[in-house]
Amino acid sequence: MSAPITQRRLSIPDLRQRKQTTPIVALTAYTTPMARMLDPHVDILLVGDSLGMVIYGHDNTLMVDLDTMIRHGQAVVRGSTRACVVVDMPFGSFEESPGVAFRHAARVLAETGCAAVKLEGGAELAGTIAFLTRHGIPVVSHVGLMPQRVQSMGGFKAQGRDPVTAAAIMADAVTVAEAGASLIVVEGVVESLAIAVTHAVSVPVIGIGASAQCDGQVLVTEDILGLYSDFKPKFAKNYAELSVPIDQAVAAYANDVRQRQFPGPEHCFQPVIPALEK
Ligand code: KIV
Repeated sequence: MSAPITQRRLSIPDLRQRKQTTPIVALTAYTTPMARMLDPHVDILLVGDSLGMVIYGHDNTLMVDLDTMIRHGQAVVRGSTRACVVVDMPFGSFEESPGVAFRHAARVLAETGCAAVKLEGGAELAGTIAFLTRHGIPVVSHVGLMPQRVQSMGGFKAQGRDPVTAAAIMADAVTVAEAGASLIVVEGVVESLAIAVTHAVSVPVIGIGASAQCDGQVLVTEDILGLYSDFKPKFAKNYAELSVPIDQAVAAYANDVRQRQFPGPEHCFQPVIPALEK
């Protein structure tokens, strides 16, 4: 009898082998039910700190803390069996020193069961990336538009439009790859730069607002499903407008309640009638 085929989770080494082969499909997930729905379709589930905006209603990602990321990371790992789960390190949890970054990243890995952490930052984090990877923590780097730097960047603006910033982003990508980053997310940069970065580094480059020529793509799930309207980046494509059926369903429920049409007899419990004794 042949052994049952058991599907194991995609690992970071599996994904590294996908450089310039099959594109890597990544989406954000923050909860168990969403992770269950996405898991059969994607290679990476990213527990992004974008949850600060999408789930908690903040204007940016700066208020998200480590415990929140760990709780949502646990939920996504519980809701998935196949995808490689990557969890964002929130603002303030890794910049201070390699030691502080290790202590916090180790908590994320140990307490969630995820495969890697993602750090926003370029060449200035080379020492931290080298330290984490040397000590067994796979790192996904995030360069280009870095939402955690929204205050210093003056908003969520496309990056690398002039030769000086383009060269700096290229240097960031090359440096983090040399420091040991397993994958690199490149966000919100001009397309020619995204293509050049993809060719310049030996690790997979995942684009968001970058280019179809990258080694993979990531988007915020609520953006593609039409479930988040507070901020709509130019690079997010709407594959569905789920806010419409949700609005209709909730309006129908509210109407049923007001008309005393819900609950119906099939939703109510009745007493058990004891069998008559002969
Ligand atoms: O926080 C996030 O969701 C992200 C992706 C959009 C890349 O960093």
